[in-house]
Amino acid sequence: MLDLAAAPGGKTLHLAMHMRDRGRLSAVEPVKDRFFRLRANLERAGVTMARTYLMDGRAVGRKVPGRFDRVLLDAPCSSEARIRAGRPESWAHWSPRKIAEQSKKQRRLLLSGLEALRPGGRLLYCTCSFAPEENELVVAHALRRQEDLRLLPLELPLPNWQPGLEAWNGKAIDPRLRHSRRILPDARMDGFFLALLEREA
Ligand SMILES: C[S@@+](CC[C@H](N)C(=O)[O-])C[C@H]1O[C@@H](n2cnc3c(N)ncnc32)[C@H](O)[C@@H]1O
Repeated sequence: MLDLAAAPGGKTLHLAMHMRDRGRLSAVEPVKDRFFRLRANLERAGVTMARTYLMDGRAVGRKVPGRFDRVLLDAPCSSEARIRAGRPESWAHWSPRKIAEQSKKQRRLLLSGLEALRPGGRLLYCTCSFAPEENELVVAHALRRQEDLRLLPLELPLPNWQPGLEAWNGKAIDPRLRHSRRILPDARMDGFFLALLEREA
């Protein structure tokens, strides 16, 4: 299993717990201080099976093509879905330019994660943004580039979700994106976007 954007490691820990600290889990993070926080968190929780890599996720696919059964890409994003009315700090770093920059990086990270996936393997792409440029349009770009991908419908044990968008700014998006999910924020959770991709065996 590959966690391609791992720090500070909340989801890496969750994965390690579900894998009962057995098997192989590789966690990648390129930002130094965040990388060391990830390592400290894994160590504190007693995880022994995870290997950590201080590197750019965009280089991973080329390095180890077809290596992983499962990939998680909890992508760096604009955090748009965490904006809260009355909390100016929650939108202090938001800008259309930031969305455009993140979108470019997300596309490359997703292609890298898909390259690292073995035939029959699955990749979960997610962000805490609502911008279609960081979500549906990133996944649609990968579907255009690689024909052996399926987008699987996600069953969520939650009431507060909507299907992914099939159009944006007057332009149609690949209709398979309806299988992705937008989780709406409520008192218990932040907003989120999820898309589950499978490479044909
Ligand atoms: C949304 S956070 C991940 C949160 C983490 N999955 C968790 O649950 O704790 C995205 C992470 O991607 C990292 N990142 C930024 N650029 C990256 C790149 N080129 N390759 C891999 N990770 C990157 C960021 O530093 C950040 O730690």
